[in-house]
Amino acid sequence: MTSGGDAPGMNAAIRAVVRACSYYNVECVGIYRGYQGLIEGDFQNLSSRNVSNIINRGGTILKSARSAEFRTSEGRKKAYNQLKKAEIDAVVLIGGDGTFTGGMIFNSEYNFPCIGIPGTIDNDIFGTNFTIGYDTALNTVVEVIDKIRDTASSHNRLFFVEVMGRDAGFIALNAGVGSGAEEILIPEENLGLDRLLEALKRSKRSGRSSSIVVVTEGDKIGKSVFELANYVEENLPQYEVRVSVLGHMQRGGSPSCFDRVLASRLGVRAVELLLDGQTNLMVGLVNNIVETTELEHAVKGHHEINKELLRVSDIMSF
Ligand code: F6P
Repeated sequence: MTSGGDAPGMNAAIRAVVRACSYYNVECVGIYRGYQGLIEGDFQNLSSRNVSNIINRGGTILKSARSAEFRTSEGRKKAYNQLKKAEIDAVVLIGGDGTFTGGMIFNSEYNFPCIGIPGTIDNDIFGTNFTIGYDTALNTVVEVIDKIRDTASSHNRLFFVEVMGRDAGFIALNAGVGSGAEEILIPEENLGLDRLLEALKRSKRSGRSSSIVVVTEGDKIGKSVFELANYVEENLPQYEVRVSVLGHMQRGGSPSCFDRVLASRLGVRAVELLLDGQTNLMVGLVNNIVETTELEHAVKGHHEINKELLRVSDIMSF
């Protein structure tokens, strides 16, 4: 099952789970439309051939949804009954923290075996260095900022580029460093408006004619990216400011090789764990080794932003 926001590489994870089941002679059933499909019994048997030619496709062939009904105990009871009726013994959950929270609650109520695979572009899950989809999203963002930079430099403009990440600055920080952004605003670090103005003034004094500021959608500076742009334009009239909100283009597209390989590794391990009688775990990649973390820790733990990268980004803006 895939649930929550789609991420590039989810199909590669589905393929890995289906093929691992085939390899180990286990029947595999796809649950469509996340927890909502689980409640409604939207299931379909999947064989190895059903997942041919999907490793390269973005989105999720199983589709995804955010289900309000699964948040209710009646909804979860319906889901349990559907699983029993279809003689399903365990579930692999591909998604982010909302997906895992649902799985944990379900497991505590019905003792139903489940293993989580982290799939979200945000990379905000504890217990894995990388979530499936994050690397592809980074590459998408860098490609787009490279293009924006052409206009920024041709017109001597300052661009505010808003990227996704909900409350996490992984995409902004890494894509910001990778695309040579002058400033990066992330929720984990409140730069403050004064420091931003100072940094932009310094940048102008140093002879820079155009700039890119990458802003996380959930930045805590207290202003939307448009308000931020207006504020800077009012206080620094020497700048001609434009805003670009990248939005859902960051979630789509063919997964990178990294995401495909990650998804394949995690998918195989998820099936092997279930066959081994394990449950309530998330599989993740830690220092290039596939490791497991309790679902509860994956949800409650905090995936820390890389402080060294913050320092590198500060030094790069000089
Ligand atoms: O969690 C992935 C994500 O793309 C976040 O970065 C973003 O805040 C959110 O999903 C958007 O969700 P939706 O597509 O439901 O608007």
